[in-house]
Amino acid sequence: MTPALEDLFAVLRFPSISTDSNHAADVRACANWYVAKFQSMGLAVELCETAKHPIVVAKNEPVAGRKTVLIYGHYDVQPVDPLELWDSEPFNPVIKDGKIWARGSTDNKGQHMAHLLGVEETLLEEGELPVNLIFLLEGEEEIGSPNLPGFLEERKEELACDIIAVSDTGMVAPGVPTLGYGLRGITCCEVKVTGPDKDLHSGVYGGAVANPATAAAQLIASLHDSEGRVAVAGFYDEVEDLADWEREMWSQVPGMDRQDVLEVTGSPDLFGEQGYSSAERLWGRPTCEVNGMWGGYQGEGSKTVLPAEAGFKLSCRLVPDQDPVVVLERVRKHLEAHTPIGVQIEFEAGHSGKAYVADPHSEEGKAAQAALEEVFGKAPVLIREGGSIPIIQDMKEILGADTLMLGLALPDCQIHSPNENFTVENFEAGIRLSRVLLKKLGTSS
Ligand code: BES
Ligand code: ZN
Repeated sequence: MTPALEDLFAVLRFPSISTDSNHAADVRACANWYVAKFQSMGLAVELCETAKHPIVVAKNEPVAGRKTVLIYGHYDVQPVDPLELWDSEPFNPVIKDGKIWARGSTDNKGQHMAHLLGVEETLLEEGELPVNLIFLLEGEEEIGSPNLPGFLEERKEELACDIIAVSDTGMVAPGVPTLGYGLRGITCCEVKVTGPDKDLHSGVYGGAVANPATAAAQLIASLHDSEGRVAVAGFYDEVEDLADWEREMWSQVPGMDRQDVLEVTGSPDLFGEQGYSSAERLWGRPTCEVNGMWGGYQGEGSKTVLPAEAGFKLSCRLVPDQDPVVVLERVRKHLEAHTPIGVQIEFEAGHSGKAYVADPHSEEGKAAQAALEEVFGKAPVLIREGGSIPIIQDMKEILGADTLMLGLALPDCQIHSPNENFTVENFEAGIRLSRVLLKKLGTSS
C-alpha cells in the first residue's frame, strides 16, 4: 500500500461520529492524528477547543504578497446504521474493485486527505508552497457546525484569506471534472403528534378518538400538492426563476439523464416538480423531505393499538434568497393550520444554514477550472449542488471569501449510507489536483 493510502486508512479507522456522544473520544483522537500529521509536515498547527468537538488549524509560514488559500474539510462522519447492510466493517477500511470502502472514505476524509497529501508532496519536493496556506478541519460538520461560525468570528483576522478550496461535493460521473459554484441551504424540524394520554385498544376506542399516527400521515401528506410542489403558503416567495444560461448549461451535464438517475438511486421512476429536469430539481429548486417518521407498534406481527403519540422529522433544502428561519416559520404555521381535530402538535426547530452561490468565472474560478482541466484532461462541468455545507455561506459572510468546490464524490459513493466508498483513482487524482490548484491560484491575478 502507498504511504498516501496508509495515511487515509489511519484516519478512516477512527469512528469519529460527531452526533453520538459515545464517540466523543474517537472524534478527539482523530483530531489529534491530524495535529501530529501537520506537525510532521512542518506546518504550525493548533488544536482549538470548542464547546463540543475540536477544530484543527494548520498553516505554513506566510510570505508577504502571496495569495492566502484556506482549505476546509471535516473529519467527523455520519453514523453507520443500519450496520447489517455493510459488506465490510465501516471503520476497517478495505480496497476492493478499485474502491476504498469505509464510513468517511468520501465524506469527507478521503477528499480532504487528498489536499493534505498534495501539500505534503509539494513540501517534500519543493520545500515550500506557492501560497500562504491555512488548513481548517472541523469535527462538527455533520451536526450542522454549531461552533464553527463563532470560531470564525473570533479568529476573523487570523483566518483572513483570498479564496477557500473545498472538496466535499460531487463529481457528476467518473472522469468528468466538476466545479461546484453553489449549494442548497437547509432547515430542519421535528414534529411530535399527541392524542390520548395513553396507548389505547384500537377496537375499544378506535373510531371515537383521533389516531396520532393517522394525523401525522395527514400532516405529512399536506406538505405537497399533486404536482410535486411544496404546498406550504409562501414557500416559494423568494425563489428566483432559473436563468436560461444555467438551464442550458445543466442540460449538457453528463450523468443527470433519466436513466442515470434511475440507475444510481435504484428508484422505479422519477418524481418531482413539474416542468424541471432532475438537475434543476436537485440544484436549483427547494424541497421539503420527510427524513423519519414513527408511531405505534413496529415489532413482528400485529398489535391492535391506537398509539398515544407519533412523529416525524423534516428537512427543507433551500435556494439562494430563502431565509432558513423564515421558511421554517412558514412550515410551522402550515402544520398548525393543518393539524387534524383531536390531536396536538409540538414543533421543534432543528439546525439550519443558508444556500450559497458564487461566480464560477472569477479569477480564482478560472484557475480552478484550469487545474481541473489539467488533471482530468478535459474542461470541467459547472454545477450547483443539491447537498448543503452551511459553513460555506458563513465563511463568505464572516471571512469575505468565496469557495471553490472541487468535487470528487461520485454518484454511487453512498455517502451517509451503508457501503460508503471512494475510488482510489479519485483519491490519487485529488492529490494531483490539489498540487496543480495551489500552483495556479498562486499565480492567478
Ligand atoms: N458533503 C456533504 C454535503 C454534500 C454532499 C454536498 C454531496 C454536495 C454533494 C456534507 O457532509 C453533508 O452531508 N451535509 C449535510 C448538511 C449538514 C447541515 C448536516 C447535508 O447536506 O445533509
Ligand atoms: Zn455528510
